[in-house]
Amino acid sequence: MSVIELQNIVKRYGDGYPAISDVSLSIAEGEFVILVGPSGSGKSTLLRMIVGLEDITEGDLLIDSERVNDSAPRERDLAMVFQNYALYPHMTVAENIAFPLILAKGQYSKEEIDERVSRAAELLELVDHLDRKPAHLSGGQRQRVAMGRAIVRDAKAFLFDEPLSNLDAKLRIQMRTEIARMQRNLAVTTVYVTHDQTEAMTLGDKVAVLKKGVLQQYASPQELYDEPVNLFVAGFIGSPPMNFLPVENRDGQLHSPFGAFSLPAAEREKLREAPRYLVAGIRPECFRDAATVDEEVRGSGAVLRAEVDVTEWLGNEVYAYLPFEAEPGIRKALEELDRDLDGEGTRTQVVAVLDPLTTVREGDAIDLWFDPAKVMVFDPETGENLTRDPENAKRLSEESEAARRRALERARAQQTEG
Ligand SMILES: Nc1ncnc2c1ncn2[C@@H]1O[C@H](COP(=O)(O)OP(=O)(O)OP(=O)(O)O)[C@@H](O)[C@H]1O
Ligand SMILES: [Mg+2]
Repeated sequence: MSVIELQNIVKRYGDGYPAISDVSLSIAEGEFVILVGPSGSGKSTLLRMIVGLEDITEGDLLIDSERVNDSAPRERDLAMVFQNYALYPHMTVAENIAFPLILAKGQYSKEEIDERVSRAAELLELVDHLDRKPAHLSGGQRQRVAMGRAIVRDAKAFLFDEPLSNLDAKLRIQMRTEIARMQRNLAVTTVYVTHDQTEAMTLGDKVAVLKKGVLQQYASPQELYDEPVNLFVAGFIGSPPMNFLPVENRDGQLHSPFGAFSLPAAEREKLREAPRYLVAGIRPECFRDAATVDEEVRGSGAVLRAEVDVTEWLGNEVYAYLPFEAEPGIRKALEELDRDLDGEGTRTQVVAVLDPLTTVREGDAIDLWFDPAKVMVFDPETGENLTRDPENAKRLSEESEAARRRALERARAQQTEG
């Protein structure tokens, strides 16, 4: 279990391509950190630099306060699990798991190897498969063998590069839970790469969001969701993604294609010096069909009137899609943002996730109710979140750190008992 520190890390590839620009991250002992970002944002590059498969162009990489930029991968003593498992087909599951121990010639006795393999097999529910060959296993079982190989030796940290991307959706969710449980039980420092924001949100103690090699924000999942620093993070975290509406800031109100609304006084104050044309961000789950909101509550919120293009009924919720007109300049900006986000290219519509009590259907007009305090406002030029609340961000980060410490202590207590 180790502390990993990245200080002003830069990576330029041989052809001069700046894959990573000045990234600094501090990963605490036992912490589960996710690197997330669209394709090509530099996640694998960063991970490969930590593990030692890629040279570091500039900056310092410290493991337990020791600079390891020039250490060979073996000396760094980290265990990496790749996307394509890289199992040896001619070896049994047990031999595959034992492989790193056998490789460390003479360090482990036969008894110790057996014991470690059976402990890993138990943890990963592979006991019944130890004598089988990888070719006969399911995708999820192979993935577990690859993890077994990582956990048999006392590596200082686990590094995962999209370990679940070859699995089908159901198995992915199952393995996600297993990885989370395993990491908690073993309390080993873990760095995990994914481009799936759901994986990032559910697994990570902390998530580092990368865009084109530049670190955007490094925070707990809830802080990323509630207090994103910019448009990119706001649009990347959350599913369905946050809605972005072009608004004009005039006469103390924000004028959107669906009508005008006022922000609470404190937020309004933050926009005093802001440009006239802004982007308002409202998460799909913040909307309600006004017809289903109690009288007393309704007055405390704002309402936008929109025409419903399509509805999708999902049983526990209804998705309503509401297109809007945007002038060409704004449309272009929204489309560009969507490309950065690897999005689906439908940014000139609002998605509302409604309670199934709603009776609204295709072609109807709807009054969308929301709490204006939940609205975020962004500068379209810089992308900055102008309504971010640093106090709340600090509180969220302290809460998540406290929760992580509690979990770590529980894991330690269990280890001493066991
Ligand atoms: N060997 C290389 N030489 C030159 N450029 C490279 C090399 N490997 C990667 N790159 C570039 O560095 C950038 C980051 O690549 P990287 O593989 O780290 O992205 P990623 O975030 O892991 O993407 P993905 O989600 O697609 O795996 C990309 O633009 C890529 O083209
Ligand atoms: Mg990658």
